[in-house]
Amino acid sequence: MPTYAVRGPLVRWLTDEAKRAHTDLGRYRVLDVGCGVKPYEPLFARYSEEYVGVDPVDNPLAELRGSVESLPVADGSFDLVLCNQVLEHCNDPVLGVHELNRVTAPGGRVLASTHGVMPYHPAPTDYWRWTHSGLAKLFWDNGAWSSVRVTPASGTTACLGMVFSLYLDLALRRARVGWIARPIVTGVNHLAEAVDARSARLREPAQPGTLFANFHVVAEVPK
Ligand SMILES: C[S@@+](CC[C@H](N)C(=O)[O-])C[C@H]1O[C@@H](n2cnc3c(N)ncnc32)[C@H](O)[C@@H]1O
Repeated sequence: MPTYAVRGPLVRWLTDEAKRAHTDLGRYRVLDVGCGVKPYEPLFARYSEEYVGVDPVDNPLAELRGSVESLPVADGSFDLVLCNQVLEHCNDPVLGVHELNRVTAPGGRVLASTHGVMPYHPAPTDYWRWTHSGLAKLFWDNGAWSSVRVTPASGTTACLGMVFSLYLDLALRRARVGWIARPIVTGVNHLAEAVDARSARLREPAQPGTLFANFHVVAEVPK
């Protein structure tokens, strides 16, 4: 998959966070903001007592209709609030982060992810990209958080490999020989992961020159 640098780490991270939240919070209520096709619901199923999806578009899988900037739920009503691959699409990320904070229960947490680098992909719009420090600032400046942790999903080589793979895949599919891309993309993904694993300079966000496809945010609300 050309977007493996985003999707692979995202699933691993949410799998770990689903379990960690259960250890810390017991059975919890989940709000999935910008839920799309709810691809992460199975990861939370065994730990959650409620899983509610909200989306601003006409989405038959969403229980609620609304945007991250104006969530149709009460203050502090969910223990775990997911907002994955959504902030880049919203009109007002400042307002969105305030809302994520407002709807999270005391002691609960937000699990958000969004892009550092990605080609333009409207859903239905596409406005924003971040660095790790810009994303940390966005959260700290907007809402009362007891902690905010931002980590890159994968390294610099994985990001460069993803961009190469996306355009290779596109070009070969347009030429109706998309099958040729699959083994090349798999090889690029493995090689990139191995290169990043060997070099902290390619992985650590504080290093000048790094480039990241995606970031994961864990933002906790005070008890
Ligand atoms: C790239 S999809 C991600 C879907 C899902 N969260 C995932 O990770 O697969 C972006 C989602 O955000 C939703 N969306 C777009 N603008 C939004 C907004 N302002 N507030 C909440 N969701 C929004 C879209 O309708 C879509 O479901």
